[in-house]
Amino acid sequence: MRISVIGAGYVGLTTAACLAQIGHDVFCGESDEKKLSTLQACVMPIFEPHLQRIVKNACSAERLRFGSTEQAIGWGDAIFICVGTPPLANGDADLSALEAVARMIAKQASGYRLVVEKSTVPVQTGAQLRKHLSVHSTNGLKYDVASNPEFLREGSSIEDFLHPDRIVIGVDSPRPEKILREIYQPIVDQRFDCPVHTSCPRHSRPTFLVVETASAELIKHASNSFLAMKISFINMVANLCEAVGADVTEVATGMGLDPRIGPAFLRPGIGFGGFCFPKDVQAFIRIAEKSGCDFSLLREVEKINQDRIGRFIEKLRGEVWVMRGKKIAVWGLAFKPNTDDVRFAPSIALIRALLDEGATVSAYDPQATEKSKLVLPNISYCENPYEAAEGSDAVLIVTEWEQFRDMDWRRLKSIMARPLILDGRNMLESKQVTSCGFRYVSIGRDLVLPPQNGLSANEVHYRSAALQKSWSDSSVVSLD
Ligand code: UGA
Repeated sequence: MRISVIGAGYVGLTTAACLAQIGHDVFCGESDEKKLSTLQACVMPIFEPHLQRIVKNACSAERLRFGSTEQAIGWGDAIFICVGTPPLANGDADLSALEAVARMIAKQASGYRLVVEKSTVPVQTGAQLRKHLSVHSTNGLKYDVASNPEFLREGSSIEDFLHPDRIVIGVDSPRPEKILREIYQPIVDQRFDCPVHTSCPRHSRPTFLVVETASAELIKHASNSFLAMKISFINMVANLCEAVGADVTEVATGMGLDPRIGPAFLRPGIGFGGFCFPKDVQAFIRIAEKSGCDFSLLREVEKINQDRIGRFIEKLRGEVWVMRGKKIAVWGLAFKPNTDDVRFAPSIALIRALLDEGATVSAYDPQATEKSKLVLPNISYCENPYEAAEGSDAVLIVTEWEQFRDMDWRRLKSIMARPLILDGRNMLESKQVTSCGFRYVSIGRDLVLPPQNGLSANEVHYRSAALQKSWSDSSVVSLD
């Protein structure tokens, strides 16, 4: 089928590449000319495993091409809108890019088109889109609007697209359902040339769930908010573990064995980040508020997450005492491993707080250095983790990149000013590093007896609150 994808961000690029991979004829439209010429040269503007290879192959086979939004609108029978919906100051999603694309479709397209909203949008956006297309249509356009939320995780988006647990579509008539079934049939049957696995293991057929448009829209926000709630929940349990001398890993393992709870998203740490959870939780709170529902449960989820960095810094202060003049090594800048994305990354608020307190920071990340430089110009960026740690008073593990698991710990100890590791992701085993002479501090696994350093629990909380502004300012680079 001829398919258009509008917007070449994480979601759009993955969608375009994977739809081409499963045999469709895809045109991806992008309005940013610089990004467009990069893509036309087959260079990816983001780091995402497998993406470059799939795009290159699909372009050579002439199943994928890049061009302007206008050209894309002229191409497909189905148009997937994948433009950015960044947060406004009040937490609402900014739908101006989506509205502009809808207006262009209404004015330029003729005949029948299926318009699919794939960007994460507030409930009832589908209804607005229908209205907008009808108001601005000038060429006798006949159309349907469907919602098809994405559940792609950065760093494994290709795999998530091709081997999903579920495909959700929101429709209000049989025709768009039929078209979307046809588009996704190779994935439902798991019948395509898999670019990820050399001998692709048999994956189970995903559930193809057909619901009302508004329900599909809610499924996306509710899913992300629920996952964020799980993370904040385990982070609070970690606080409690620290207070009473329990081990959060053991507690999470025990909880996760209950199939109603499950083990996923129970990893404690310095908090969730990225361009999805923080903005989606905020947007969901606003959606509920506007509909007269008080979802203050999610406000607490946000607050717990924002407190994570303050608590982590408090742990560091407990170890190094005075922060001014200390050299702190930060390992990991991306909001999670296998991506170069630093939007709303905990590393940014953390580093800003360290700088504010007079520490100097040397950082290393295998992928996110260039993007971090745009938001954090005043720190040293290093070629490897050892260079960052040289002469430092502490190493902070902020992103759990696999390479940090297996370091030459003796070498590391010999080059640091003081052998101290604070593990913000609980990725190391205490014995592994303490046996080499390190002091090792992690999350929810060390007993903290208040008051520490003369700070009461309330003061710790107060300092965390002061970090919230810096946290909410931490996304300035828009990549969608
Ligand atoms: C998330 C969802 O997982 C996807 O299903 C969804 O499609 C996507 O948002 C989106 O809305 O587009 P993503 O933001 O790529 O995907 O990242 P996750 O892997 O979900 O991690 C989010 C954050 O939570 C990261 O900062 C991660 O470090 C943190 N996290 C995750 C924890 O702190 N603990 C955990 O146990 C799991």
